[in-house]
Amino acid sequence: MVVALSLAAAGSSGRAPDNALVSDVQVSPAADDVSAPTPEDALVDASVEVPVATPTEAPVDAPGLEQRIFNIGISIYTFDDYFMNLCRHEMEKYFNAMESYAVKYNVTVVDAMGDQAVQNDQVDEFIAQGVDVMIINLVQSSSANTVTERAKAADIPVVYINREPNGDDMTAWDNICYVGVETLLKQQGIRMGEIICDLPDRGDADGDGVVRYVMITGEPDNNDGFRTVSSIMALNDAGIKSEQLLQVQGYWNQEKARELAADALAQFGAMIDVIFCNDDYMALGALQAIKDAGRSVGEDIYLVGIDATPEAVYAIIAGDMTGTVRNCPMRQAHAAVSAAIRYAYGERNDTYNWIELVKVTADNATNYIK
Ligand code: GAL
Repeated sequence: MVVALSLAAAGSSGRAPDNALVSDVQVSPAADDVSAPTPEDALVDASVEVPVATPTEAPVDAPGLEQRIFNIGISIYTFDDYFMNLCRHEMEKYFNAMESYAVKYNVTVVDAMGDQAVQNDQVDEFIAQGVDVMIINLVQSSSANTVTERAKAADIPVVYINREPNGDDMTAWDNICYVGVETLLKQQGIRMGEIICDLPDRGDADGDGVVRYVMITGEPDNNDGFRTVSSIMALNDAGIKSEQLLQVQGYWNQEKARELAADALAQFGAMIDVIFCNDDYMALGALQAIKDAGRSVGEDIYLVGIDATPEAVYAIIAGDMTGTVRNCPMRQAHAAVSAAIRYAYGERNDTYNWIELVKVTADNATNYIK
């Protein structure tokens, strides 16, 4: 059973990069199935193994079998985030899929509405309710210790998902783990920068010897901000001369990013060789502005993002985006549910459960759609 609450609940290192990698399983390209995408399309590549296999029917030879019920509390930093909505719906579905005659998961999902104080209250409420495990998508990457301290005092394990806590914070207790893509070692941004470096003109669309770019970032106090610096590190490491024209915050919001990109295009015009976006949702907003300005991705400008949302993958196939870096919300969801189930059964998890990053460009984009 899943309960989703759009309001706050009442009352309201020793890190190893290769540790527990959730392997990347590509789906077979389907040659002519390139119809309009839906978030559901992303489900096709979401096969991550779970540790619990249970019968769906009451076993006839075990009439006295008692059903186990686990209570799971999930707090999402905001229900306004597209990527996290994909992720949370998939967690709900996956917990349901894991249910059987022998085991039930009572899942409560709450919206922290972008407020760490609200999320702290939700954690307290989960603890008061006596949940078995919490899955927390932090509002602030820097607030893991606040949550961990409360959880540890109540002896309730925590799976942190997608917004990576600060490194030292992950050593605070044995019963906390992180599921998501690697952030602090900067691999996501490096991969995004490499997509530009790998272009025949190395991102210098106007051929004047300097890659001039606009950077649209997510939000402050979030470790995904490392995508910003690391994308340019890749250009520097490749010996590419670059110049930042503008850096603006798009808050993971498509319309906001469209407005920012439109302003930048009006201000800097043909000087802009590349628009870097910290995620695909914002890249799709920037794409609209690029089209409105009469520019053409792949011809006089380049556009990159992160996530490989279905819409972005289709944009790459259509030649409207240069590339993205896959950060699969479905894999994150499956890995988080698997980790929570392990905790529910009293087992341990590796501290870091990485979701593998993959560069997605026109060369391989069809591998990431149905
Ligand atoms: C990132 C994702 C963004 C946004 C962000 C929220 O992993 O790329 O689209 O959802 O998480 O923290």
